[in-house]
Amino acid sequence: MKILFTRLIQSPLLEQISKQYEVVMWNEENSVMPRNELLKEVADADAIFTNLTDRLDAEFFEHAKRLKVVSTMAVGFDNIDLQEATKRGIPVGHTPDVLSEAVAELALTLMFACARRVVESMQFIKENKWESWGPYLFAGQKISGAKLGIIGMGRIGKILAKQAKALNMDVIYTNRRRDEKAEKELNVEYRELDSLLKESDYVVMLTPASNETYHMMGYREFSLMKATSIFVNVSRGSTVDEAGLYQILRENKIFAAGLDVFEVEPIQQDHPLLSLDNVIALPHIGSATKETRDKMVEIALKNILNGLNNERLLHTVNKEVY
Ligand code: GLV
Ligand code: GLV
Repeated sequence: MKILFTRLIQSPLLEQISKQYEVVMWNEENSVMPRNELLKEVADADAIFTNLTDRLDAEFFEHAKRLKVVSTMAVGFDNIDLQEATKRGIPVGHTPDVLSEAVAELALTLMFACARRVVESMQFIKENKWESWGPYLFAGQKISGAKLGIIGMGRIGKILAKQAKALNMDVIYTNRRRDEKAEKELNVEYRELDSLLKESDYVVMLTPASNETYHMMGYREFSLMKATSIFVNVSRGSTVDEAGLYQILRENKIFAAGLDVFEVEPIQQDHPLLSLDNVIALPHIGSATKETRDKMVEIALKNILNGLNNERLLHTVNKEVY
């Protein structure tokens, strides 16, 4: 049986796996397996180790005649046509939980970095502009005692709420469904989106990409936020209308934005958002700690092995296949 890896992966499990299975692996680090190569290689593959940069759409599944399991090294699966997979009885595995703390930590990183203007400040030194300590030099925003609004109270949102509570923040959230259990356990309060935007000092986007969440933050929504508040996106770029975000930042109607994800990735260097001082942009590194990525690889590999052995995956997205 053949396992197709669309990325160069390292793992102690691979040695054993390659004794039992034919392993075909894209061998360039941090580059994407070209589409034509992907469609060609998947034709006789029994399993695929994929990630958020591969598009597993109807065309892909048409080519995947022998596929028994899809395993993505990610929590998000908006790049995978689940209907097409389910129709063919193919389970889709993903890697939740192990990355929740790392992603929540990156949300905090962006909150702090925006609030204290860390990137601008360093640039200021590098450009040799620092002449003396200044009473209001790079004066930013405070986090302790401020109000955090979380959009999407899932696994990552709950961890972020806990971390924020330790920083003495007030936490409110919005979600498709109200979660009264989380409200009690975490001491957080539910709000409709508009109220959350009006009240929050920090708004963190954690909702997955879907038709319902497409461009859920646009100019109208951003204009409800306070001029001192900060917007952070660590979920998917499609949840934000970047033209609206650019306009609001340009008008200085919010304080700053910290973005780990974009409508089109990689974001191009001449993208208007990158021309602004009050934007911090990162290359989609939410879960990128060494420890977390090792665990994601391990779970993704186990999902493949389970799938090939007709066992339940550790985390199945389309449970309807069973
Ligand atoms: C990263 O964005 C993921 O979905 O794991
Ligand atoms: C700043 O360094 C201070 O001493 O207040």
